[in-house]
Amino acid sequence: MSSIILVTGANRGIGFAIVQSTALRAPNSIYILSCRSQGAGEDAIVELKKLGITASLDVVVIDVTDDASIIEAKDAIEKKYGKLDMLVNNAGIAILQKTTELADLRDSFNTTFNENVTSIAAVTSIFLPLLRLSSDPRVIHVSSGRASIQRSTGDNFPPTAAVAYSISKVALNALTIEQQKVENGRTGNERDGSRVDFYTITPGHCKTAFNGYRGTKDPLDGAEVVVRLAMARRGEWKAGSFLEFEDGAMREVPW
Ligand SMILES: NC(=O)c1ccc[n+]([C@@H]2O[C@H](COP(=O)([O-])OP(=O)(O)OC[C@H]3O[C@@H](n4cnc5c(N)ncnc54)[C@H](OP(=O)(O)O)[C@@H]3O)[C@@H](O)[C@H]2O)c1
Repeated sequence: MSSIILVTGANRGIGFAIVQSTALRAPNSIYILSCRSQGAGEDAIVELKKLGITASLDVVVIDVTDDASIIEAKDAIEKKYGKLDMLVNNAGIAILQKTTELADLRDSFNTTFNENVTSIAAVTSIFLPLLRLSSDPRVIHVSSGRASIQRSTGDNFPPTAAVAYSISKVALNALTIEQQKVENGRTGNERDGSRVDFYTITPGHCKTAFNGYRGTKDPLDGAEVVVRLAMARRGEWKAGSFLEFEDGAMREVPW
């Protein structure tokens, strides 16, 4: 595998683990760490090299809520690499509503949706022209097990303190379905370039800053589903599906 792969929020947690694990197994690819600051990206590269990564590593600065930063990064990648093969939309937040005040409710929903849904739509839209220049373009959204309505309505999860977060991941899954449908339905001149395959995944409950390190999985295990998707043959996994890697195997997650 020799691809140009961009991972958002790659300086720590699951994003870092996605780069670490994929780069170990596919060292001929180029990994672009998208981080909120150049320094955080460079520090992550130092760490990755200490961990034995020999693949080519690069940094772009993106705050996913800031369109100008996304466009600037896209221009830089276009100039340097000419295309993008894989975009992993990993950056995300979960914030707790500070009080029961209505203003706090609106703030928690709007901030979470802006980051976990709208910004993913924006990042993807800005990078789509570069992805279409790849012969095998893939977009992977990092969602959550709580996005599965079937699992949420069963006994899989206790009540959550981060309601806006769970709902934002359901919306992210719906975004994946719509993005794939739009992609499959392109006609005429719009059909130029390769078809992009979209996936949404759940990493499982991982030990990261995100949950105060209370998760049960190592982030490297959480990253495995993305690594497998990155290394899969084109078409091995149905485009537009929701996937996880659990009990040693890839499998579809019920919507
Ligand atoms: N941990 C879990 O158990 C779990 C479970 C299910 C799903 N997930 C999902 O996995 C993804 C990664 O989570 P994690 O556990 O690795 O969390 P994390 O350790 O908190 O890392 C989050 C990453 O996202 C970046 N980020 C946040 N807001 C950003 C923004 N506006 N622009 C650019 N980057 C931004 C952070 O950058 P800074 O360092 O600059 O803050 C950081 O690199 C999230 O989408 C989360 O919803 C996690």
